[in-house]
Amino acid sequence: MNIVEIIQKKRDGRPLSAAELRYTVDGYLSGAVADYQASAFCMAVWFNGMNDDELSAFTEAMRLSGDTLDLSPLGITVDKHSTGGVADTVSLIALPIAAACGCRIAKMSGRGLGFTGGTLDKLESIPGFRTRLSEKEFFGTVEKYGFSIIGQTGELAPADKKFYALRDVTATVDSIPLIASSIMSKKLACGADALVLDVKTGNGAFMKTPEAAHKLAGALTRIGRLAGKRTAALVTDMNQPLGTAVGNAVEVAEAVSVLRSAAPGRLTELSLRIAAEMVFRSQKAASIEEAQKAAAAALESGRACRTLAAVITAQGGDAGIIDDLSRLPHPAHRLTVCAGEAGFLTAVETEEIGRTAMMLGAGRLRKEDGIDPAAGLVLSKKIGDRIEKGEPIAELMSAREAVLPEAAARLKKALTVGEAPVSAPPLIYQTEES
Ligand code: URA
Ligand code: CA
Repeated sequence: MNIVEIIQKKRDGRPLSAAELRYTVDGYLSGAVADYQASAFCMAVWFNGMNDDELSAFTEAMRLSGDTLDLSPLGITVDKHSTGGVADTVSLIALPIAAACGCRIAKMSGRGLGFTGGTLDKLESIPGFRTRLSEKEFFGTVEKYGFSIIGQTGELAPADKKFYALRDVTATVDSIPLIASSIMSKKLACGADALVLDVKTGNGAFMKTPEAAHKLAGALTRIGRLAGKRTAALVTDMNQPLGTAVGNAVEVAEAVSVLRSAAPGRLTELSLRIAAEMVFRSQKAASIEEAQKAAAAALESGRACRTLAAVITAQGGDAGIIDDLSRLPHPAHRLTVCAGEAGFLTAVETEEIGRTAMMLGAGRLRKEDGIDPAAGLVLSKKIGDRIEKGEPIAELMSAREAVLPEAAARLKKALTVGEAPVSAPPLIYQTEES
């Protein structure tokens, strides 16, 4: 096989065979295919796309480029993935709910990078919580309580890592087939039988429009189906933070509050829906309606909350946080932000809210950076809410007092207050399934 001929074929709009795609992926990882050739390949895909067979073969080649997890000893397993949002604490709520409904979830999670948070960082804000477990502890926790979350072990899809870094510097990140294969190569390497994908759309998401998110959701579910996995992808809103808390300990506190009170709201609603999809896709309910009832019952009865407490204890954490949130890390400094004018919240620059939390110390710019577990913010208003002049609208938390005024100004600038009320954007735009 010859990489120049493969590039030429893709350039001319002809589909590549599975063998040609394997050759490209393996060759790039080994160094036999040069950066400039892989760049030309990505650009040819950017222009000409991939059909489903190519998508599936390319994903599979990347999945097999590194370690893969064998979850078969656990029976039917299900996993959940979000393309990344702000105040997106769904995993910490939906996993205990789904586990309380009989699902088995052995989840490897990532750290936050840029303006979106990572579940691992959030969990590590719980005193004592261990995200490194032996395989025996990991599987044992799933068998006993239904779920466990750990940091990534081994090397998942190293070919994707190399391609992603290259795409970043060759203007080829924003290609649906390349994004979909990238996400699915890593997700499929984690070994679950069913997958629920939360594809965010809006000004705080990677996919800015519902149309683009819908296309991505379609590609993700097609890859899932061809890999023999029951896959659902929901396109959900990120034109404002999903919950109210942005950070690590504050997001854990919000998740615990939802599990304790089952108080309604967008975060609760989406968590219940994702949990129900997990229950249905892993065949623990005969219909999505039945799964929704089971999820609601697990939340309202307190069973989901007790499941989270049990998993925190099993992973060495202080489950006392459930009844006493003051056991979570405290920020050294707080600042209450009050509204400068009266009106209605009409728009939020969501990415800016995420960046404000980062500025306070909640996120990292580079992979090596540390985070402050107590830093972050709580934005208590949602689009459509009435705001009175002088009313507290947000609380900022940081170890560094000096950044608070600048962060407050940045947060205020990210909010648009208008005279007339507007309706809230939809929460779920659509669902794709395989
Ligand atoms: N996230 C990924 O994992 N890969 C992409 O290509 C884009 C977003
Ligand atoms: Ca299985």
